[in-house]
Amino acid sequence: MISYKNVTKKYGGVTAVADFSLEIGRGEFFGLLGPNGAGKTTLLRMTCALTAPSAGDISVNGARIDRNLTDAKRSLGVVPQYSNLENELSALQNLEYHGRLYGLTRRDIRRRSRELLEFSGLDGRRDEAARVFSGGMRRKLMIMKALMHEPDILLLDEPSAGLDAPWRRRVWDLLRELHKRGLTLLLTTHYLEEAEALCSRLGMIDGGALRRTGTPGEMISEAGKFVLEYFENGMTTQRFFDSRDEAAARAALMEGDTRVRAANLEDAFIKLSGKGFEAEG
Ligand SMILES: Nc1ncnc2c1ncn2[C@@H]1O[C@H](COP(=O)(O)OP(=O)(O)O)[C@@H](O)[C@H]1O
Ligand SMILES: [Mg+2]
Repeated sequence: MISYKNVTKKYGGVTAVADFSLEIGRGEFFGLLGPNGAGKTTLLRMTCALTAPSAGDISVNGARIDRNLTDAKRSLGVVPQYSNLENELSALQNLEYHGRLYGLTRRDIRRRSRELLEFSGLDGRRDEAARVFSGGMRRKLMIMKALMHEPDILLLDEPSAGLDAPWRRRVWDLLRELHKRGLTLLLTTHYLEEAEALCSRLGMIDGGALRRTGTPGEMISEAGKFVLEYFENGMTTQRFFDSRDEAAARAALMEGDTRVRAANLEDAFIKLSGKGFEAEG
């Protein structure tokens, strides 16, 4: 469980995170969704004590990270946005190295690295240097590295940024499987599709502030479950309805190209943004 209480982070005159309060429960798959510069990375960096808040408290499984970093660190696995692999070490050596840094016994290092290489499908490439791995393989190895010391919470900063579609799906499946096995996950993303596909609950962050939280379904329902889309005067316009029948009835009255479909998170996001998601700040 992660708890943020009135967390603020300032860099000189820039407020990167503003009075952020949130509780993430055990077993949640939480997605922190927001545009570039919203404060997502800063929040994750504070969660794993890479940087300290200017004000407010963060606890991980009940341990305040400013008072009991050792316990908090044990509970957390961290996958940063940019590579934290040792390029000249092999996949196996990268995992072993992380195990040694965390004080695992030789026996645990051997057992755990074997399990994780098998779980990720990287066992056939275990002796190759990380430097030769593709972006997707590197991302998988970074996730396995974060899991070496058996944390129960995994933090991921934009885990699929820069990956092509097939690799993005592979990383998604891996994260889903980890969630199924009981891990608590907190990821940041600016991909609405990713947030909708993976997360059990979302928080929308912008300008460092948490604007709203809810399940993807709640956010979509709030906007309207069905969309009537039409192109008029050089612009695509969307209208939202609670049922497909209502949307279809309205479409029947219109001329030109119309389309009725189930709403997705992107539609909801655009509608809710219009209602002040961005303007509130
Ligand atoms: N080390 C830093 N020094 C100064 N400003 C920073 C630093 N890190 C982040 N910022 C600023 O804080 C804001 C939030 O950045 P960041 O947390 O990286 O956002 P995101 O990850 O959502 O793109 C941005 O305005 C960014 O320029
Ligand atoms: Mg970032």
